[in-house]
Parts: sequence; C-alpha cells; structure tokens
Amino acid sequence: MKKIWLLVFMVLSATALFVGTSFGTEGTGLKAPEAEIIIEGEKKSAKFSHPVHLNLGVACGQCHHDSQHQPLTDTDIAVMENGQQLSCANCHNKDFSDPKLQTPKAAFHARCKECHKQGVDGKTGPTKCTGCHVK
Ligand code: HEC
Ligand code: HEC
Ligand code: HEC
Ligand code: HEC
Repeated sequence: MKKIWLLVFMVLSATALFVGTSFGTEGTGLKAPEAEIIIEGEKKSAKFSHPVHLNLGVACGQCHHDSQHQPLTDTDIAVMENGQQLSCANCHNKDFSDPKLQTPKAAFHARCKECHKQGVDGKTGPTKCTGCHVK
C-alpha cells in the first residue's frame, strides 16, 4: 500500500515539474506584432512594420538589446512580461550614459536611418522624413 502512494506521489511531482518547466520556457509567448505599429514621440510619430523587416531576414537583436547592449533573441523576448520592456525610450532618455544616445530620436535615427541608407541585400529603405513619419 505504502509503495503505491509513493508511486502516485512520484508521478504527481514529475508532472508538476514537467508542467512547471514547460511554462518556464514558453513564458508569455510574446512575439513580434503582425500589424504595423506607430512609435509615438513627443511631437512626431513614425510607422514601423515587423513583417516588412523580418522578411529581410533581420534578427530581433539587430534592433532589440538589453541593458548590457547584448542582442535579444526571439526566445529572450518570448519570456518577457509585455512589450513595454522593449521600448527604446526606457533606456534612451536623458539619464542614458552616452550623451549621443540620450533621446529616442537619436537612437531611432541611428538605427533606422543608417540601415535604410546602407540597405540589406541591395534593398534600401525610405530616407525621406515622410517615409517614416506619419505626423
Ligand atoms: C527611417 C525612418 C525615419 C526617417 C527617414 C526619419 N525619421 Fe525621424 N524618427 C524616426 C523614429 C522611429 C522616431 C521616434 C518616434 C517619433 O518621435 O516620431 C523619430 C523621431 C524624430 C524626432 C523627434 C520627435 C519627437 O516628437 O520626439 C524628430 C524631430 C524627427 N524624427 C525628425 C525627422 C526629420 C526632420 C526627418 C527627415 C530629415 C526624419 N526625422 C526622418 C524615424 C525616422
Ligand atoms: C528593424 C528593427 C526591429 C527588428 C528586427 C525587430 N523589432 Fe521588435 N520592435 C522594433 C521597434 C522599433 C519597436 C517599438 C519600440 C518602441 O516603441 O520604443 C518594437 C517593438 C516590439 C514589441 C512590442 C510591441 C508592442 O506593440 O508592444 C515586440 C513584442 C517586439 N518588438 C518583438 C520582436 C521580435 C520577437 C523580433 C524578432 C523576431 C523583433 N521584434 C524584431 C524594432 C524591431
Ligand atoms: C535596456 C536598455 C536599452 C534598451 C531598451 C534599448 N537600448 Fe539601445 N543601447 C543600450 C546600451 C546599454 C547601449 C550601449 C551604449 C554604449 O556602449 O555606449 C545601446 C546602444 C544603442 C545604439 C548605438 C550602438 C549600436 O548598436 O548601433 C543604438 C543605435 C541603439 N542603442 C538603439 C536602440 C533602439 C532603436 C532601441 C529600441 C528598439 C534600443 N536601443 C533599446 C541600452 C538599451
Ligand atoms: C537592418 C536594416 C533596417 C533597419 C534597422 C530598419 N529598417 Fe526599415 N527598412 C529596411 C529595408 C531594407 C526596407 C525596404 C524593404 C523592402 O523594400 O522590402 C525598409 C522599409 C521600411 C519602411 C517602408 C515600408 C513600410 O513598412 O511602409 C518603413 C516605414 C521603415 N522601414 C521604417 C523603419 C523604422 C521606423 C526603423 C527603426 C525603428 C527601421 N525601419 C529600421 C531596413 C531596415
């Protein structure tokens, strides 16, 4: 009799462990939004589409990095609580260490405009203000 309860206990703990770990790896399952997003500044805003950029074969970490400037992968992002953590202005604000990257404008222009000029596999992106800014 005791042995059976021990077995039941072992099976239950193994299941709990299994369920626990699979939740741990899947996390919230946060993914790149399919829809175009609007990045709001204080006065202006700009449009950005994940699918357009991911179709170029660009990795998440080309734009998203952590506080140590290490690139974030889709698995890093999948365990995040919500998309708010990825907001560039969380770090690129007046408290940022490098004075050249203390505004979202500076960080965005450095990342977005530079690549648009350089291009990916011969494809370039818009460089005119109205190519990105919707107001
Ligand atoms: C490749 C895309 C892109 C292009 C081209 C671009 N910008 Fe931006 N810019 C952004 C993004 C993204 C932001 C951050 C969101 C925002 O503030 O609108 C930004 C922010 C700004 C801001 C700060 C706005 C605020 O409210 O804080 C100014 C000013 C600005 N851009 C001016 C310009 C001007 C002028 C041009 C053309 C000479 C230009 N940008 C071209 C992407 C672009
Ligand atoms: C070419 C640049 C770029 C790439 C590549 C990129 N992202 Fe983003 N992503 C952005 C920008 C810009 C934002 C908006 C940040 C902000 O508002 O400050 C954003 C926002 C997000 C958000 C929050 C969306 C919301 O509406 O709250 C998620 C989630 C996200 N990205 C996931 C991903 C994942 C996963 C990948 C890789 C598969 C990826 N991104 C690749 C630029 C990029
Ligand atoms: C968690 C904080 C954090 C977030 C969020 C963040 N950054 Fe950064 N970023 C950094 C740090 C730290 C550096 C390295 C600065 C240095 O070495 O001087 C950096 C450097 C940069 C640089 C200059 C170096 C390079 O990679 O070209 C650019 C451009 C940049 N970030 C753009 C962005 C954009 C665009 C976003 C949003 C998609 C973003 N950052 C989100 C912390 C952050
Ligand atoms: C790694 C390079 C790279 C980065 C970083 C990048 N882009 Fe692009 N973007 C491109 C290329 C290449 C195209 C043209 C795609 C095509 O023709 O299929 C493009 C196209 C676009 C377009 C026109 C298509 C559309 O969706 O309307 C917009 C707007 C745009 N990008 C905004 C942005 C903004 C805003 C950022 C920064 C948050 C950004 N991009 C960062 C390479 C990049």
